Amino acid sequence: MILVTGGAGYIGAHANKELNLAGYETVVLDNMSYGHEDFLKWGEYENVDLDDLKSLRNVFSKYKIDAVMHFAAFTYVGESVEDPQKYYLNNLRNTLNLLQVMNEFEVKKLVFSSTCATYGNPMEIPLTESHPQNPINPYGKGKLMVEKILEDYNSAYNLRYVSLRYFNAAGADPEGDVGERHHPETHLIPLILDAASGKREDIKIFGTDYPTHDGTCIRDYIHVTDLADAHIKSLKYLENGKKSEIFNLGNGNGFSVKEVIENARKVTGRKIKATETDRRPGDPPILVGSSKKARKILKWQPKYDELTQIIKTAWEWHKKDNKKIGKKDL
Ligand SMILES: NC(=O)c1ccc[n+]([C@@H]2O[C@H](COP(=O)([O-])OP(=O)(O)OC[C@H]3O[C@@H](n4cnc5c(N)ncnc54)[C@H](O)[C@@H]3O)[C@@H](O)[C@H]2O)c1
Repeated sequence: MILVTGGAGYIGAHANKELNLAGYETVVLDNMSYGHEDFLKWGEYENVDLDDLKSLRNVFSKYKIDAVMHFAAFTYVGESVEDPQKYYLNNLRNTLNLLQVMNEFEVKKLVFSSTCATYGNPMEIPLTESHPQNPINPYGKGKLMVEKILEDYNSAYNLRYVSLRYFNAAGADPEGDVGERHHPETHLIPLILDAASGKREDIKIFGTDYPTHDGTCIRDYIHVTDLADAHIKSLKYLENGKKSEIFNLGNGNGFSVKEVIENARKVTGRKIKATETDRRPGDPPILVGSSKKARKILKWQPKYDELTQIIKTAWEWHKKDNKKIGKKDL
């Protein structure tokens, strides 16, 4: 049985689906702080908060857990600057709770959701795993602290792990079972699609004077199903007794904000109003990752390497989800 913390959220739900398709049994653990009941389509479910050690132990007693995929976290970078305690308590202390109970129950395999935010401002592009890590916000710092703690747990308790540093997760399950739904939404592609469908008036472009070809920030978009696939490959890697590792997960191609908007106009056939405004503090001009290591060691190959494909799946989900949740949620 695989424990999927945060499995009612965006990336966790996609991974949970792929795990079940690959023949694994799963139990999702989520406190529904940002999760969605209708994403609980596969495996078992336990409504537990990671801050509750007693309930956490009950889950490990009830199921025979072989490995954990740990997605549960708060994910708003800006909020982490305003309220770091909220982030350190959940993303750091509650991860320690999970590691403590894994230790008690002798569960020795973990796939951890880390992030490119652990790098901070890039000194060279593409970012490789050996690039120095100087995160510039509490969200990135907390994730880096967990990466470091995992090294110590590995040496002391033989916990083997794979830390996956995702770049920008995007897109949706191509069959439309689950997709991206964050409240509030801060990710570029769903915000653009909100503008395409009239849920919001326009899409704001923060900064047009960056040192990039069109002046807007460049990011690396990776399809959520490709991320899910990398999780399964990481799990199999650990099952094969291999040593702990850290991998970047990105497509290796960068797209500017303007390019993403233009692409979304083509995919949706809608007018999308873009409003240019000032830079936001803390946005590096370019974040593009090299995933050569994951390709080589995990034999991972992203299937959605075209931005158009990623936006198409996001748009199909967006239309379906808007119909489902109705205007009240818009
Ligand atoms: N979305 C991205 O682009 C991206 C990029 C890099 C890293 N990540 C990481 O990937 C993971 C998943 O991100 P997401 O976009 O799916 O976020 P999400 O908010 O959709 O999912 C997180 C889930 O964790 C649950 N959760 C949070 N705290 C919990 C707690 N204390 N106990 C139980 N459940 C709890 C929430 O209810 C939610 O369902 C996070 O760890 C995030 O930091 C995401």
